[in-house]
Amino acid sequence: MKRLGVNIDHIATVRNARGENHPDPYYAALQVIKMGADSVTIHLREDRRHINDLDAKKICKTKKVLVNLEISMNDKIVKNALKIKPNYICIVPENRKEVTTEGGLNLIKNKKRLKSIIEKFKKKKIRTSLFINPTIKDIKLSKELNVDCVEIHTGKISNLVKLKKKYSGELDRIRRCSILAKKFDIEVHAGHGLDYITTKILSKIKEIEEFNIGHFIIGESIFIGLSKVIKKFKSIIKG
Ligand code: PXP
Repeated sequence: MKRLGVNIDHIATVRNARGENHPDPYYAALQVIKMGADSVTIHLREDRRHINDLDAKKICKTKKVLVNLEISMNDKIVKNALKIKPNYICIVPENRKEVTTEGGLNLIKNKKRLKSIIEKFKKKKIRTSLFINPTIKDIKLSKELNVDCVEIHTGKISNLVKLKKKYSGELDRIRRCSILAKKFDIEVHAGHGLDYITTKILSKIKEIEEFNIGHFIIGESIFIGLSKVIKKFKSIIKG
């Protein structure tokens, strides 16, 4: 059975737009699990642009939610993550100026550093994943790094599908990487830019065991939820 992880960072984005407490990411984490998601993903960015330290601590503390914490290789962030002990860790590249995580990690450049970070989390029995581009070279390097999982960056295929361009080459790359990772006993996840269509396409790859989806779920939930909220307000103002 494939699992769904829901990234709730953008609940915090909406909350932060007002600097108040609504909508609360902690409450969102509980709701997301209650509604059937298998885990919750949060990204504690160096600039804290959405999830903040208090959110991360609170969400990781509850036993009711399996938490996948995305982190960069920054020393302070790694130390913090080891302290708040999420269930899972996903190491991602982070560039302050980017709007979102634009690609996978550079495994060659960061091999030594990644090895030491992975060992630290393994010692604490925290499942660790690397956010990578779909290349055979990166799957082989992930094996050398002895990581538990890889999350394949699906931004490229998502863009191709959205632009109605040919995506079979990229799909084939993702499939071949997933097969090799599975052969190496590395669990395969997929995430970034996914919507209903791209998730359906990728769910045909049986080696992918987990999808981590954020922006589309939060955006789509607005439209699915609007009618209920508007009806509630209409009934309130009716008196
Ligand atoms: N997986 C990882 C590792 C991410 O960094 C992100 C956010 O960039 C996602 C999944 C979710 O991406 P999106 O919000 O586009 O669904």
